[in-house]
Order: sequence, then structure tokens, then C-alpha cells
Amino acid sequence: MIEVKGVSLRYPDGTLALKELDLTIKEGELVYITGPSGSGKTSLLKLLMGMEYPTLGSVKVLGQPIVNGEFGGIRNIRKRIGPVFQELKLVPGRNALENVMMGIRFLDFSRREMKENSVVALEKVGLGHKALSPVENLSWGEAQRVAIARAIARKPGLILADEPTGNLDHDNAVNILNILSSFQQQNTSVVITTHATHLIENQRNITIVHMNNGVISVEKRGDGN
Ligand SMILES: Nc1ncnc2c1ncn2[C@@H]1O[C@H](COP(=O)(O)OP(=O)(O)OP(=O)(O)O)[C@@H](O)[C@H]1O
Ligand SMILES: [Mg+2]
Repeated sequence: MIEVKGVSLRYPDGTLALKELDLTIKEGELVYITGPSGSGKTSLLKLLMGMEYPTLGSVKVLGQPIVNGEFGGIRNIRKRIGPVFQELKLVPGRNALENVMMGIRFLDFSRREMKENSVVALEKVGLGHKALSPVENLSWGEAQRVAIARAIARKPGLILADEPTGNLDHDNAVNILNILSSFQQQNTSVVITTHATHLIENQRNITIVHMNNGVISVEKRGDGN
């Protein structure tokens, strides 16, 4: 599903954000990436989304290599990813439903499926009643859930969520993690960055990637059996 081999990422200003990472993520795996601010979590997700390219090493996502210049391949990979960006990237002036629908308009859904998927996704995140609200009228936590609905409406093979619980209260954060992790049962791999390590303390059958200053250590937690 995901194969990262010997990957370093250096930004044009010289910052070495990722240092010789090796990481394999299988189908249906639920992975949390944790670590201090600036440790490289978003950089790693961007690499997996094909928004950055490795300076060294190789990255394969959904069986396809992420290579600079091969936009056709990357476009195909992106179609199968449900991204949740740290800065949300909602479109102002549009309501919640329109935002979710815009997120899936270039996929191979019919107009009817697009609307159905979007309505169901909004209901899943508890925002069915806000479908027609302009996104700028939503609270931050609600906006965050619209961004998550937009990702899951795509019916993705891989969910990449950057701090999806960042500004949510405890109950909403748990709810969002439950929704995202429920995709694991559908053989979707789910990768979530989070500072909220207390929320995953008791979770089983997960992988935790601890990041520190661009270096990772991987902890596999079984199902306890
Ligand atoms: N486009 C960029 N150009 C140069 N440096 C960058 C760029 N993006 C990130 N960095 C640097 O790379 C390092 C890792 O940043 P990154 O955003 O991946 O951290 P993070 O773990 O996601 O942090 P946070 O928890 O605050 O979101 C930081 O030192 C950051 O300043
Ligand atoms: Mg980040």
C-alpha cells in the first residue's frame, strides 16, 4: 500500500525535514503519526500525497511510485486518496454540501452519486443539519468535520488526515477518530497525524510512528490477543 525507502526530504531553503525514513504501511492498517511541532509530520503526509517529492530514496503509494514529473501517475494516486489538510482548504462562499461535492467532482461518480455520497458523509460527521450553511459561518470544529466529510465522500483507498482533531473538544475528537478508524475495516489504510496521544493510549491494532526532528521510530501495537 505504502512503501517508503531511505527517504530524505530537503526543502529548497535547505531545511532537512525528513531523514532516511523507512516505513511500510499495509492495506487496512491504521497509523498514527505523532511528534512535536516541526518534527516532520506534515512533510511526511505531503510526500504520501505527491505534494512533495523525496530528495533521496523512493516512495510508492497504492502501488505507484511518486516521481517528480510523472503527473499522470500522481493524479491517479490522488484520485484514490482522501486528504484532510491541516489548514482545511475549504472554499469560502460555498456551503458545507457544496464543499464536500467539490472535493469529489473529478472522480468517476455520477452527479447523483456525488450528491448522495456527500450527504451521507456529512451525516456521518454529524453535520447533516449544516449542509446548507456557508462554511464561513461554521465553528472551527464544524469546519474541520466538513473537511473530513469531503475526504470520506471520495470513498478512498487511503485516508491521509493531518491533525483532524486539532481544535476539537474531547468528545468530538474521539468521535472523529472513531469515524476515521472505522474505515480500517473496509481495507482502507488510514494515516492520521495527531498531538492527542492521550486519545490513542488504549487503542489496539494500530501502528504509531513517533517522529522527532525528521527521524521516525515505529511501534506496532497488536490487538492484544
Ligand atoms: N515549504 C517549506 N519550506 C521550508 N521548510 C519547511 C517547509 N515546510 C515545512 N518546513 C520545515 O520542515 C520542518 C518540518 O515541518 P512540518 O510542517 O512537517 O512539521 P509538523 O511535524 O507537521 O509540525 P506541526 O505539528 O507544527 O504541524 C520544520 O522545520 C518546518 O519549518
Ligand atoms: Mg503539521
